[in-house]
Amino acid sequence: MGPSVDIWHRLVEEAETHCDPTVEVDTGHGQAGSGASQPQMMSGSAGKYAVKLVNNPQGSRVLFNEQVVGRLAARLGMPCPVVSVVDVTVEGASGVHFVGDGDGQPGPAHGSAWLEGVNQVGLDVALAVPGNRSRYTQLMVLFTVVRNVDPQYVYEVGPPHHLYSVDHGHALLGNVWSSGQLDAAVPPAEIGLHNAEPLDRSATAAVLRELEMLTDADIARLVSCIPDSWGVPIEDRLAAARFLRRQVDAVIVVLQKDEAHAA
Ligand SMILES: Nc1ncnc2c1ncn2[C@@H]1O[C@H](COP(=O)(O)OP(=O)(O)OP(=O)(O)O)[C@@H](O)[C@H]1O
Ligand SMILES: [Mg+2]
Repeated sequence: MGPSVDIWHRLVEEAETHCDPTVEVDTGHGQAGSGASQPQMMSGSAGKYAVKLVNNPQGSRVLFNEQVVGRLAARLGMPCPVVSVVDVTVEGASGVHFVGDGDGQPGPAHGSAWLEGVNQVGLDVALAVPGNRSRYTQLMVLFTVVRNVDPQYVYEVGPPHHLYSVDHGHALLGNVWSSGQLDAAVPPAEIGLHNAEPLDRSATAAVLRELEMLTDADIARLVSCIPDSWGVPIEDRLAAARFLRRQVDAVIVVLQKDEAHAA
């Protein structure tokens, strides 16, 4: 059930006393692969990122969704790129021209640490490589928790050919959600949003242990330190925290039942 609204608010305020520093990106290198939000490959002194700008054609809620899922993935040890809030300089934004949709806006944006040497391949190719089925299984649990409705994978062209998930702009039911929709969402009764492929049951045990350790403070951190310019009011961020708590708890129940069944 999770704590009351006031307690979530307090946990978010607490988390916001120590936000990670933003990193500056000042150089554009063109569009980062095809995607409706037209993410940009950008770099700065801290490295290279796939950047989703606040005025991208899919709207700024994708930035919030990306941060939440990327942070949760990092916390759970899931195969996703590291995310940061990046600060796009005026110079960096000046090179961004959205197709049919104006120019890029400088300021805080979503950054996904650039994965070198990856490609989009069919899951059948990726899953033929040892180790990827357990990565895939982790991702199926992650997607079920965050209700990612538009999964997208990349795969390392060279060894070890690891599978990653990129693109979590359509988590939390999609790129346009309201707190009411999150509050009304029915928690999952199975791991099964997109798993066309069999899961690796030996991988779910470790995921279950990670989920069981997720505290309310951890969940509050996922929705904290979000730039105001992204336009996700605190009420919506608190709804996202409540939603994630319910989703995590439901997935824990599902995985515990599976474990008991397999024993
Ligand atoms: N961190 C990253 N490292 C390397 N490549 C990336 C990274 N993030 C994204 N990409 C590449 O950029 C492409 C577009 O990114 P993404 O899928 O996030 O955009 P999108 O606009 O949300 O897509 P969609 O149209 O599916 O909603 C990806 O398919 C992938 O090829
Ligand atoms: Mg995509």
